[in-house]
Amino acid sequence: MMRISMSLPKKLLADFDEVLKNRGYQSRSKGIRDALQDYIVRYQWMNEMEGDRIGIITIIYDHYYSGVMENLAEIQHQFREEITTSMHIHMTDKYCMEIIVVNGDINEIKELTEKMMRLKGVEHVKLTSTANGKEFSDPEHSHPHYY
Ligand code: NI
Repeated sequence: MMRISMSLPKKLLADFDEVLKNRGYQSRSKGIRDALQDYIVRYQWMNEMEGDRIGIITIIYDHYYSGVMENLAEIQHQFREEITTSMHIHMTDKYCMEIIVVNGDINEIKELTEKMMRLKGVEHVKLTSTANGKEFSDPEHSHPHYY
């Protein structure tokens, strides 16, 4: 730990101490550390780092179609860095649904989506994504929809 000393307006310190008291903080230093951490996180959130997104890809495919399951598995293994988890739903006798949670560079996520979309036997692919929290979310562009 580093020790620093600082000058603060009396009113600011009084207001801060009041908040700490209300929140049950025993230590002013701890309160200041937490406040600094909040400040840093808030800045990082707003400081957009191009292309880092979290999202969901939904796929519906005909599991009787020859090779489609193997192809989907192979493609997903290529993008395992971007894939957080996936869920398989046996939707009907013929159709399966997969829900894939992705997190990472949007260019990679788009490539994954498009590769799966090109597969024969795949009938529906949809990607929705939003800022993954490491960047500022522009309200105009935080919910793009592909297909
Ligand atoms: Ni299935």
